[in-house]
Amino acid sequence: MTNPFSLAGRTAVVTGGTGGLGGARARGLGAAVAGGLAAAGARVGILGRRAARAAEVAGEIEGTGGSAFAIPADVLDRDSLLQARAETLNQGDTVDILVNAAGGNVPEATVFGDISFFGLSREAFDQVVGLNLTGTLLPTQVFSEPMASQGRGSIINISSMAAQQPLTRVMGYAAAKAAIDNFTRWLSVELALNHAPGVRVNAIAPGFFVGEQNRALLMEPDGSLTARGQQIVDHTPMGRFGEPDELAGIAVWLAGDGSRFVTGTVIPVDGGFSAYSGV
Ligand SMILES: NC(=O)c1ccc[n+]([C@@H]2O[C@H](COP(=O)([O-])OP(=O)(O)OC[C@H]3O[C@@H](n4cnc5c(N)ncnc54)[C@H](OP(=O)(O)O)[C@@H]3O)[C@@H](O)[C@H]2O)c1
Repeated sequence: MTNPFSLAGRTAVVTGGTGGLGGARARGLGAAVAGGLAAAGARVGILGRRAARAAEVAGEIEGTGGSAFAIPADVLDRDSLLQARAETLNQGDTVDILVNAAGGNVPEATVFGDISFFGLSREAFDQVVGLNLTGTLLPTQVFSEPMASQGRGSIINISSMAAQQPLTRVMGYAAAKAAIDNFTRWLSVELALNHAPGVRVNAIAPGFFVGEQNRALLMEPDGSLTARGQQIVDHTPMGRFGEPDELAGIAVWLAGDGSRFVTGTVIPVDGGFSAYSGV
């Protein structure tokens, strides 16, 4: 029997693979997922706007015996994505896996302090929806085309706890991530019915992981929890935030043959947050 978790011979692209500040402990979620896919045998393209950071993450993966390459691109710029696709096909002949991890909140689209719902900026709302939704749509259009031609592929979107049950404050972000869940289901059906049943689309809904974008919301400068951070930990049955590496296993499973009959799902990785009513 073949190993259902092996990604040997597969080529993956991870948008948002440049996330985090650098170094294993400060990796963003995309970089941690990229490391996991490489550890399972995939050759991984690290996609983000910061070319130097993409090269750094690819170098870290190569340094641990994995295979990776940098593909600087902007998820909102179709031409740069087409260029990244050409570079990827040059490296590995195929694209088998796409992880859409580029995304995040935009502080100006958050109802907090001086920003009330009534005054929320249209530009900030468009920006957060653009990055999370259009920034998933465009790479998916570009990289799923070769998958449909070869009849096989796995697309993994990154949703959020804010999608199914909106979180306070992050209005634009919650709306954009809810759209990601909908898009995940829609595209899984569209590709299977009209293009290639072997191209699957799923999403991971991470719970709370301390990162560059949300550190100030969750932690005080001295490392203690903010009131919101404490509320989250209290509502997480496992009693802590997640570590980026804890997304790697689910991504490896969704990427490979172990999940070959799984499409159209959104899977929480949240320490039980979404299962807990608080009582
Ligand atoms: N941290 C959490 O608790 C959490 C929870 C749920 C969901 N998520 C989601 O997980 C994903 C990764 O989050 P993270 O915490 O790891 O964030 P992060 O460290 O801030 O990383 C964000 C990534 O998005 C990329 N990006 C932003 N705009 C881009 C653009 N126009 N083109 C290409 N890449 C772009 C950045 O790369 P460049 O700057 O190099 O372009 C970076 O790699 C996001 O979708 C986020 O919403 C995070």
